[in-house]
Amino acid sequence: AAVEKGEYRHFMQKEIFEQPTVVAQTLQSYVRPLEEQVALPDMDFDLAGVKRVSIVACGTSYYVGMIGKYWIEQFARVPVEVDVASEYRYRDPVMEEGQLALFISQSGETADTLAAMRHCAEAGLTTAGIINVPTSTMAREADLLMSTHAGPEIGVASTKAFTCQLAVMAAFATNLARAKGRLPADEERDIVKHLQEVPQFMTEALDRDGKIEAVAQFVSKARDVLYLGRGPDYPMALEGALKLKEISYIHAEGYASGEMKHGPIALIDETVPLIVMAPSGPLFEKTVSNMQEAQARGAQVVLISDDEGIAEAGDDVVEYIRMPKVHPLIAPLVYAIPVQLLAYHVAVAKGTDVDQPRNLAKSVTVE
Ligand code: G6P
Repeated sequence: AAVEKGEYRHFMQKEIFEQPTVVAQTLQSYVRPLEEQVALPDMDFDLAGVKRVSIVACGTSYYVGMIGKYWIEQFARVPVEVDVASEYRYRDPVMEEGQLALFISQSGETADTLAAMRHCAEAGLTTAGIINVPTSTMAREADLLMSTHAGPEIGVASTKAFTCQLAVMAAFATNLARAKGRLPADEERDIVKHLQEVPQFMTEALDRDGKIEAVAQFVSKARDVLYLGRGPDYPMALEGALKLKEISYIHAEGYASGEMKHGPIALIDETVPLIVMAPSGPLFEKTVSNMQEAQARGAQVVLISDDEGIAEAGDDVVEYIRMPKVHPLIAPLVYAIPVQLLAYHVAVAKGTDVDQPRNLAKSVTVE
């Protein structure tokens, strides 16, 4: 059956609002609430033997890989490298015994990612895939398939597939950590609890739609926009900037908060909105001090944070978007929503073709 927009104006909007449902659907395959465990689909593979993970993907899926690196290294203490697929094969990467090659793709057909998967398989590595389209080439060819259950994604700019990929990545990192003897049962119980809270928190984030639409009116007048984040919110800053470029055609860059002083701060003046993602927590103070350096130079800050963060740093910002207070592990899943909605409403304000942005394809099957 054809997928319909229903009450929504665009597929992208519909897909953003579907996220609590499809992320819950995806988590159902990975979280066992009764056993208080996170599980992967049955697979004939010894996770404990994994010595290194190389993650390869393109576009938005690549940012899931970057976030995965933070999680896998933190929880499982296994070293991770992340590459964009078009670079991986050509840099003659080191491949070794015990290395798991993990590919992330919504379509399962992206030519560069598929070619990298085949390259690794030929070299004798075990390949794993976090894939949304179950009938795709990558889903068939991966040795270990970890499916996302986002359903068909029609909007060219990925939204719901991204958060479902993050949910599976969190499950993968947790399983690897357990297999490596790095995850005490009480910590796993906490992770299960936090993952189960994600759909509810996403719904709360979606409730900010009206506020985000108002912020979008201001952002839509900009020529350049910067996004800042630290830790797993750094890839989220990259994703925020990519979403904005893709559908509104406004030039945007994402930076690790601490890198701003090494270049991009030179761009700051009163015409440049600075979108800062800073959930309260261990990284908050440092990010805020980077934000204040920019404010001192006239930056128009939009702060995305929770009650605590806004109380502490929200005084001089132009706008803030209030998020629920969430555990740092699940923050990227929840903070994805305001950056998606912001890009969406900016694009609508500019009158672009939201679902079919110029020059872009849903699935890129050329290298
Ligand atoms: C295209 C799409 C992006 C997507 C990327 C990777 O560029 O427009 O939204 O992130 O391909 O696609 P994949 O299907 O491999 O995740």
